[in-house]
Amino acid sequence: MTSDNQELTAQSAAYPPPERLVNPEEGREKPWISSMAEYEALYNESIQQPDKFWTRTANELLTWDKPFTHVTQGSLNEGNMAWFSDGQLNISYNCVDRWAIKDPNRVAFVYEADEPGQASKVTYGELLAKVCGLANVLHSFGLRKGDTVAIYMPMIPEAAVAMLACARLGLVHTVVFAGFSAASLAERVADARCRVVITADEGLRGSRPIRTKAIVDEALKTCPEVERVLVFRRTGSEQVEFNAPRDVWWHEAVAAQRPYCPPVPVSAEDPLFLLYTSGSTGKPKGVVHTSGGYLLGAAMTLKYVFDIHDGDVFCCTADIGWITGHSYVVYGPLALGSTSVVFESVPTYPDASRYWKLVEDHRITQFYTAPTAIRALRRHGDDFVTKCDLSSLRVIGSVGEPINPDAWTWYNEVVGGSRCAVVDTYWQTETGSHVITPLPGATVAKPGSATFPFFGVELAILDPTTGTELEGNDVSGVLAIKRSWPSMARTIAGDHKRFLETYLRPYPGYYFAGDGASRDADGYYWIRGRVDDVINVSGHRLSTAEVESALIGHNAVAESAVVAAPDELTGQSICAFVTLKNGFEANNKLKEELVKEVRTRIGPIATPKVLILVDELPKTRSGKIIRRILRKVVAGEADQLGDLSTLSDPSILDVLVREVSTAI
Ligand code: WT7
Repeated sequence: MTSDNQELTAQSAAYPPPERLVNPEEGREKPWISSMAEYEALYNESIQQPDKFWTRTANELLTWDKPFTHVTQGSLNEGNMAWFSDGQLNISYNCVDRWAIKDPNRVAFVYEADEPGQASKVTYGELLAKVCGLANVLHSFGLRKGDTVAIYMPMIPEAAVAMLACARLGLVHTVVFAGFSAASLAERVADARCRVVITADEGLRGSRPIRTKAIVDEALKTCPEVERVLVFRRTGSEQVEFNAPRDVWWHEAVAAQRPYCPPVPVSAEDPLFLLYTSGSTGKPKGVVHTSGGYLLGAAMTLKYVFDIHDGDVFCCTADIGWITGHSYVVYGPLALGSTSVVFESVPTYPDASRYWKLVEDHRITQFYTAPTAIRALRRHGDDFVTKCDLSSLRVIGSVGEPINPDAWTWYNEVVGGSRCAVVDTYWQTETGSHVITPLPGATVAKPGSATFPFFGVELAILDPTTGTELEGNDVSGVLAIKRSWPSMARTIAGDHKRFLETYLRPYPGYYFAGDGASRDADGYYWIRGRVDDVINVSGHRLSTAEVESALIGHNAVAESAVVAAPDELTGQSICAFVTLKNGFEANNKLKEELVKEVRTRIGPIATPKVLILVDELPKTRSGKIIRRILRKVVAGEADQLGDLSTLSDPSILDVLVREVSTAI
């Protein structure tokens, strides 16, 4: 990789922490970390005296049923990492009971329903009763510690209740994003061996119903091992099919249960959840997160990165179907006893002011969203933002993909009114919580850089070919982490070998993140995007192989190659090249059918933006598709194709370039 760091450093403006954080008004506390020196002292302690550092923080932030006596064991070399392993705790007790006992009227969730003006609140006292009631229902189904439950629900507080009810019994949940198709849901339910699925009759997004239960019914046609489907009534639609005794109404089942359920203590290393994510091969992997380390990571990053204090109202717009929703809608905020906003709608319903109206209505203090939403809302113009009162905001965050400096600056100036700290947080499903991020009261931000490592995270930049660590500043390579941290994933469900091969074997002794990165002359980290076959569309991760196999599933398709194309709005978009079997005619109707095939097999998020029917794909003499060429062509860099000596038929290049230029 070439190094353009110097240029970047020189170009980029630097933004010190805003005055109102550094010198808070009367009655407001100072930031938890209020200078670089403080950050450095704590960071150094976390690296040099990890036992001391983690013993203190794990006891400060979590309540243990049985205290741990040792902090960490295992190594990245062996892939057997464990944290606080002889300690026991219950995650739902930590997230709910602690606060319900102390202050039952404190608000746990502000629920902003799809239709504006219908917000409601769930207090910690109410949450405890809901979680206990549902946990008793799950227990009555015969579920016991270690069993896995699938959750396929809209963004409503009950989705969090379902997660916490599982955690109360030591059950493992696997939330499947409710935008995934029946086929994707079925694949995950089967892989995780779930016997119970929790869902809702329907969801609502921008006033459009989503037929959640119908999708579950479709999926379960191929999952005979599922015995129970628990259905929350969200819309009360008459059209929902109900197949008793398999299907059970949530409200009826809970009404039959006692509203208290004792929490089951689990080992810190017992799994809390699986979350499926795309890798570089076709089959999604069930990333396994355990209990103690994960909860500590979620709580601690939220506390320091968003500088959460008592009375704050935190809003993360991610869906609970993604890791961001797990860590920063549910587990992080509740572990801190904070108030979390559950947002059911879309940012443009009824108009592009929805987020900002949300901030105004609920006096939100910290707001967390994705660059794709920022870019989309920016296009609607500043008025939608500036007409709302955003004076409650102190920290605004970004996650999911690199944020372009322009979007960063708009977010800072127009949304944050130049009075807020902007935190560009880099992390992954596998890291469980933030690993590279600014701290709002301490870090001088550079737009587009995630800045510095969080506590306990020891970063390295490696030469991609030799694996040698590149020391010093002003270097570029692949991003790696040198030691385990509490919230890192421990394995892939049912496939530890794949876990080792994906993350720990590529560069022995390191966790390999799959991203390219540089460290600039000032030591700031800049994430350059994935170096594997993963596409990031609007902050959602998809594998090229997954989309290719969906296309091949269509009868007309001979071969396909899928690459990422740069996209102004969604960061990247999916561009599919397809060759047809003999006897099939290339026409627009077939193209539409192929796009539809991908939507049905995976879900709307995987929709190819461009699909090009070609006579031939660029291949090596041994028949391997050269995706690199396709990537360059769709990026408009056909003049920089590099070494073409392996290409078996160079004459197809001109045709490709022509086809692409008419299609894009
Ligand atoms: C990939 C992880 C974890 C939250 C949501 C996505 C990219 C994430 C940033 C950022 C640059 C980022 C990386 C990473 N990414 N945040 N702040 N700057 N890139 O989770 O689906 O597991 O995807 O998202 O490429 O590897 P995910």
